[in-house]
Amino acid sequence: MYKIDNETVQKIIDAADIVEVVSDFVSLKRRGANYIGLCPFHNERTPSFSVSKAKGICKCFSCGKGGSPINFIMLHEQMTYQEALRYLAKKYNIEIKEHEMTDKERLAETERESLFAVNEFALLHFCHNLKETTQGHDIGLAYFRERGINDAMIDKFKLGYAIDSRDEFLQTARLKGYKDENLLTTGLIGKTERGDYYDRFRGRVIYPVFKVSGKVVAFGGRTLRTDKVGGKYVNSPESLIYSKSNELYGLYQAKPAIVKKNKCILVEGYMDVISMFQKGIENVVASSGTSLTDGQVRLIHRFTPNVTVIYDSDAAGIKASLRGIDMLLAEGLDVKVLSLPDGDDPDSFAQSHTSTEVEEYIEQNEVDFIRFKTDILLKGTENDPIQRAKVISDIVVSISVIPDPIKRDIYIKECSLRLNVDDRVLNGEVLKCIEKLRTEDYKKMLAERAKNKASETELISDKKTTVTTQPGVQPTPGESPKTDTVESAYQVDSELTTSETTSVNLEPYERQVIRYVLKYGMMPIEQPSDEADELPYRVIDFVNDELAADNITFSNTKYGMLYSMALALTTGFENDLERFREKALDDRARLWEEGENEIVRTATTSDEIDKRRKKLKEECDTAYNDAVNQFTANYLERNLSSSPDDIARNLTIDLIGDKYILSKIHYRFTQIEEEKDILYRLVPRSIHELRNAILHDRILQLSDRLNNTYRKNPNDVENISALMRELMNMKQLESKFAKIIGERVVMPSPLRRR
Ligand code: UTP
Ligand code: MN
Repeated sequence: MYKIDNETVQKIIDAADIVEVVSDFVSLKRRGANYIGLCPFHNERTPSFSVSKAKGICKCFSCGKGGSPINFIMLHEQMTYQEALRYLAKKYNIEIKEHEMTDKERLAETERESLFAVNEFALLHFCHNLKETTQGHDIGLAYFRERGINDAMIDKFKLGYAIDSRDEFLQTARLKGYKDENLLTTGLIGKTERGDYYDRFRGRVIYPVFKVSGKVVAFGGRTLRTDKVGGKYVNSPESLIYSKSNELYGLYQAKPAIVKKNKCILVEGYMDVISMFQKGIENVVASSGTSLTDGQVRLIHRFTPNVTVIYDSDAAGIKASLRGIDMLLAEGLDVKVLSLPDGDDPDSFAQSHTSTEVEEYIEQNEVDFIRFKTDILLKGTENDPIQRAKVISDIVVSISVIPDPIKRDIYIKECSLRLNVDDRVLNGEVLKCIEKLRTEDYKKMLAERAKNKASETELISDKKTTVTTQPGVQPTPGESPKTDTVESAYQVDSELTTSETTSVNLEPYERQVIRYVLKYGMMPIEQPSDEADELPYRVIDFVNDELAADNITFSNTKYGMLYSMALALTTGFENDLERFREKALDDRARLWEEGENEIVRTATTSDEIDKRRKKLKEECDTAYNDAVNQFTANYLERNLSSSPDDIARNLTIDLIGDKYILSKIHYRFTQIEEEKDILYRLVPRSIHELRNAILHDRILQLSDRLNNTYRKNPNDVENISALMRELMNMKQLESKFAKIIGERVVMPSPLRRR
């Protein structure tokens, strides 16, 4: 497969009509400017799925899912970005131009195909061994039977057996024409120091690992010996087709149940998954013994926001899952935790209980992570204040990583009740923690980007092919196929410096600014005067000038990234507009021709012909201008909401979605003032508010410093008066700002966003 050219991507994005795309799956009714229907992502009786043709996005007001046409297809059809593009191209008869693969890319591609082929062969061979050979029957199958696994599960999970022989597999594979080299890369055979080859999985039962798409990428081989010589498990090594940290065992089989139940149960091992599945708990996956990774968490999030973590109650198990919980929370997932009775793991628990018992146990015993942490960690620390403080700060960290401020609030309240700590104190601690995480995050992100950039030049072919040829796997941001614009966005961004402070929550102010940029960035901040021939002063230019003037950068890294991407997009705009104009002119010509024919056919006098022609010309002009204006106005949000970068795409959708709520509020008043008509007021105001928030923040810090200095040495007149002078200056500035902004400085309430 090839990588779709940027130009084709652009065509697809421009052509895809959200109403048409959604209508293929949802029956829509017109309501006002929008269309509505029953949400395809959750069960409902009254429609809350809204589609806006003009904005090109859809959104469910109940479950929040939706997005651009690409998003919708990715979600609904569970496709990757590239697959969704192909789907839409087909729908709109757009010829896909794919880029010529370089020699290096092509080589990597054939290698990938060969590796998949080798694995596919091994899978069939191992399954065959288990069922059709005496040894497989007597040893492998007997083992699974003894562990209570039935035939249905053996088929479902394609369990297998590797013959206990030095090179049975190797010889068979060679006979079939598979190359030693590929058998080695996939770890199916090993090489001794003396250079001899041997079957790596020999004498083991086999658990194949599938990608979401159903392709087999790895194997786990469990020993049947009690002495466990050679390790309990042998696993496939990482390769061009297998990245351990981006796969979850059982996901391929569990996917339908996860979507249906809107919940994913996370366990540790192969047997845990299979035994639970056999008991009818089918929405279960395993991280396979390692601690959870970002990639795995994101993979889960593709299918559901609800996760229940189950693990054995031994101390090591608890430690490991505590770390995992924070990662899940940071991804914005809702996390529950389930402890099993002492000495049980999910496998043994499922094997020793009936389906109903297992289901009931889960239902009655899963608790949210706060409750879990307080219960587990506080056990036996009742009289130990130091230990207690530790637990509290541990929970504070967990709450801080949650991206949604409203959820954070809820958990703070709960935590305050459970631990009997003032929620204002907790809130303060959480804010401090967020600030710390932000700076760390930002540094980490910059470092990662630098790393990605470096490895991109080397591995560029691998990465591109990875994305195009693994249907069903979501490209993680680091390996997304980046368009040129996205790449340059990263360059711009890495030049931004970390903002100094964020101890007051700047988030709502920054959100406001970035939202205006996305929604109205390409529009003139003021309607240009008629005679003006000059270039319009666009919202994005204005914001950029204002921010640059005060050296303001977004403290929220995601906003910062999105902002840079928007800026980068403006450079490609003229070209895209030119292309769009051509198309719009074609449309105009067609419209003209149709009208012209109609006139000639029906008009009776030459006077009438003239009059109708004039009117037709006006209509054609208006249609053309409207099309061009809409293309311009939606340019940023349309492109960003279709970005290959997951974070950028989802955040954009989220931000554009805000508008729905706002316009609703507007409609309650008799006089409808549309945002786009008063940008000249709204945008500068949002910048002032942001500035003011930053200033306010600095003032708080300054007073802190003043206090500290005074407390340390009340006689340090020099420093104290310097600080006081600075503080005075700042305060003056603040009151000046307040006047500009209006009498009151209104803090946009986070609640208004939902
Ligand atoms: P467990 O030791 O709990 O194994 O490791 P298990 O799957 O429950 O196996 P049984 O019940 O003894 O048959 C949990 C997971 O950790 C990984 C495997 O994915 C395993 O399923 N693991 C464990 C390894 O990859 N290698 C090892 O040596 C051990
Ligand atoms: Mn086990």
